[in-house]
Amino acid sequence: MNEDQGISIDDIIEFIKNEQEIYGPFSASITKELNESLSEVIRDPQPGEESQKKDSSSEENIPNPEMSLNDQLQACKSIEELRSFCEKAEELKTDLEGTNLVFGVGNPRADLMLIGEAPGEQEDIQGEPFVGAAGQLLNKILAAINFTRDDIYIANILKHRPPGNRNPDPDERERSLPYLLRQIELIQPKIILCLGKVSGTTLLNRDEALKNLRGKFYPFHNTELTVTYHPAALLRNAKWKRPVWEDVQTVRKRYDELGCKP
Ligand code: URA
Repeated sequence: MNEDQGISIDDIIEFIKNEQEIYGPFSASITKELNESLSEVIRDPQPGEESQKKDSSSEENIPNPEMSLNDQLQACKSIEELRSFCEKAEELKTDLEGTNLVFGVGNPRADLMLIGEAPGEQEDIQGEPFVGAAGQLLNKILAAINFTRDDIYIANILKHRPPGNRNPDPDERERSLPYLLRQIELIQPKIILCLGKVSGTTLLNRDEALKNLRGKFYPFHNTELTVTYHPAALLRNAKWKRPVWEDVQTVRKRYDELGCKP
């Protein structure tokens, strides 16, 4: 019942029946006009209109700056929305001015996620993690266990380059961590492989030597996390080759055991 006007659905049906009795059934021309005006309303959006629609819905998803950081991160419902949010996040920056965001790369639905330390010069220039010398070695390591970069997702603890490629300091790691955790939550990998001590100790929140951290899978936010040496360490010292080889083979085995797919 429409309380304002005192008209119910039954009243409307009764009214239409009466109209049909008086004027006869609706004519074909009226039906055609009705169809045309209805199809006008429900037709597929035209290209220009489509993008307007997308634009307005993505505008709706810009996190409200009045909200807490956690709520703003939760308001990012896709990896692309999170990327746009990170583009504007001053707190992700280091004290090196004019750096580019190095958000992450690969398959956003990957079951395996690799997390390094921080972008270097090449990564900063290209806006993509692991594209310099360490990245070339990483590609070879991945190929040796039958992965390409497109099968997995790669990110870093920091999303901006620190000056002089120094290690990320504790404050930078702390500021970046909530963004990375949301990224992990959106990708939902089944396995995380941390590359290097900075990555492993930051995510596991324990300050231990890498040799003690590696060789185990740790439960971590609905995934399993393991740690190995950073490819840059291998470039400096070949003695880490064997442990890395063992670690990545273990990761491949676990990936297959869990029925993971690219
Ligand atoms: N080292 C890292 O940890 N990450 C990169 O993206 C490049 C080098």
